[in-house]
Amino acid sequence: MTMTDDALDADARAILTGNDKGGYTIPTEGLYPFQWNWDSAFAAWGFSTFDADRAWTELDTLFSAQWDTGMVPHIIFHKEDDGYFPGPDVWGTGTTPASSGISQPPVTAILARLIHERTGDTERLRALYPHMLAFHRWWRDWRCVNGVACVTHPWESGRDNCPDWDPGMANVDTSGVGDYQRRDTGHVDASMRPGKEDYDRYLAIVYYGREHGWDQAKILHEGPFLMADPAIQFILIRANRDLAAIAELLGEDPSEPRAMADEIEAALPEIWNEELQAYCARDMKTGEFAKAISSGAALGLLAGVENAAMEQKLGAMWDRVTYGIPSNDPAADSFDPRRYWRGPTWPVVNALIAVGLSSAGRTTEEARLRRETAELIRNGGFFEYFDPIDGTACGGDRFTWTAAIWLAWASPNAGEA
Ligand code: DGY
Repeated sequence: MTMTDDALDADARAILTGNDKGGYTIPTEGLYPFQWNWDSAFAAWGFSTFDADRAWTELDTLFSAQWDTGMVPHIIFHKEDDGYFPGPDVWGTGTTPASSGISQPPVTAILARLIHERTGDTERLRALYPHMLAFHRWWRDWRCVNGVACVTHPWESGRDNCPDWDPGMANVDTSGVGDYQRRDTGHVDASMRPGKEDYDRYLAIVYYGREHGWDQAKILHEGPFLMADPAIQFILIRANRDLAAIAELLGEDPSEPRAMADEIEAALPEIWNEELQAYCARDMKTGEFAKAISSGAALGLLAGVENAAMEQKLGAMWDRVTYGIPSNDPAADSFDPRRYWRGPTWPVVNALIAVGLSSAGRTTEEARLRRETAELIRNGGFFEYFDPIDGTACGGDRFTWTAAIWLAWASPNAGEA
């Protein structure tokens, strides 16, 4: 039984309201029972298509958990739920509300600007502005090394088990990890999730942060994992430019966000991988580059970074699959079409790429990406991610950000990104 696009719109709205726990949405029931940072920003974009007030509330709730340092944590544990591991006791950050000790891709300014374009709610945007600026300063001070945007944990990238992180992960010592009980594989097919070797390392990095009281200087300079993330590099360039545009609209001084964008853009040569002819993840401890191009490079479009050699590579990567954009190069040995970030296509990344394509006036590619993403959702439902070759729906079902992306971008009723 196939649903009409109008029925899909209604179902997507029902997913957002169904996953609403009162001021914040969970990504999906079971697998992710708390508020996640970038998931929430996309949820807000989805809400903005039918409930402007609820859209801004989602962002307000997210920023209400902002640390004094400016960091917005990747998970906020508003209510207890023992269906998830690692929970607040494992993170041990001691914050109220309880939260994890790392962040996630800073897409809020990009989406707040798009939400404002839809809703025109300038006072809600004004209230968020200082919080978004503090968040960007935190990225500058605690995650950028001479302008190169880094992550201190693969979870901070939001692209957990992407081959981008393989060089840094290989050097994480797991000898102190001990036994633990994963919960994710009780909710979804284990072959679509990160493997045990990955999980051991994820935990070893969390334990390091906890043992050092989440001391950011320590984590940045001496922690077990530090890798340049091309996706966040590009997201920060765009997010700072959008924040500067927001500042202008509000009558604030745009020079600081503009300077942050320029500094990060100027550092791009540091992550240029001559061998792959692309911007790539890079281990900041050893200088080693990732071995394959990921969809992180495709986010160059979001930042308005044009590079003919890389575009050719990305185009070939897209042409090798039925449904773009694959999270990892299908020609790479590490490609695995259903395992999370090692190959599947993610509607949420496609939407960000489309925002860049629209800004650049590249309407044909934008339309192709929208058509392919819409087809995945029509055929497979509102799943977390999809096999880019045969379209098999993967991961969690009735997923907030996929529903949000449908409403705000992929649905023929959505209007342009
Ligand atoms: C998970 O638990 O898989 C998340 O991606 C970490 O935030």
